[in-house]
Amino acid sequence: MPGTPAPRRLLVAGNWKMNGDRTLAATLCAAAAAAARAAPEVDVAVFPPATLLEQAAAALSGTPVAVGGQTCHGERDGAHTGALSAGMLRDAGCRSVLVGHSEVRTEQAQDDAAVARSVAAARAAGLAPILCVGETRAEREAGRAREVVERQIGAVLAGRPDAADGLDVAYEPVWAIGTGRSATPAEAGEVHGWIRGLLEGARGGRARILYGGSVTPDNIGGFLAVPGVDGVLVGGRSLDPTAFTSLVEAARAAAVRRLADRRRP
Ligand code: 13P
Repeated sequence: MPGTPAPRRLLVAGNWKMNGDRTLAATLCAAAAAAARAAPEVDVAVFPPATLLEQAAAALSGTPVAVGGQTCHGERDGAHTGALSAGMLRDAGCRSVLVGHSEVRTEQAQDDAAVARSVAAARAAGLAPILCVGETRAEREAGRAREVVERQIGAVLAGRPDAADGLDVAYEPVWAIGTGRSATPAEAGEVHGWIRGLLEGARGGRARILYGGSVTPDNIGGFLAVPGVDGVLVGGRSLDPTAFTSLVEAARAAAVRRLADRRRP
């Protein structure tokens, strides 16, 4: 259709967190590569722990699967014991990085300003950042979900008219992570609408907004049926090669459906 921008490609991203060894990494990479090859309509990425990044990057080189780090420091180098810079991730073969995951925000006391520095560092190193945001259960119950998510995104967009260019965002309500209690597609869709509004004002039309939090092969279809959901960020189920393959297959089916809907007059 002339004048209609191409749809955003759905992304299935697997965050392995602090899990896995070389044996599991080899199995998961082989499964992700096979799933991605069979689903050319969608993007697939994996986020292994640091010790497995080089192995994953080597195993996935020449496949459609991107490898990313789980966090990066805001500085280029220096005295930051235990930390990894964006440049180091890039050097290890990463193309992307998660920034501001709630587990990092909490366990490493990472505030919004530090998250913004990490996003800037990722971009400077040539990595595609995925900014993770989301409210806690208490914040949702207090009616503050919108305020929290807008604050977390605002800190990254602050003062830069093109700040959302090349950024992807993952909405991961903290109460849904690892709990088996996902948000409903309607809840996700509402928050994605708020986020989309913020991104559009910062040249973020191409930015994808993912949902994360207890995504499974059984519930992914409901999320991807929401037009504002551009993919999923998966924790637990990304460690099971069969489940991860099913997630990619489900995303492919959703992508094919979306393309058919667009062609319909
Ligand atoms: P679960 O899929 O295990 O809930 O984890 C979600 C997540 O935190 C992905 O980054």
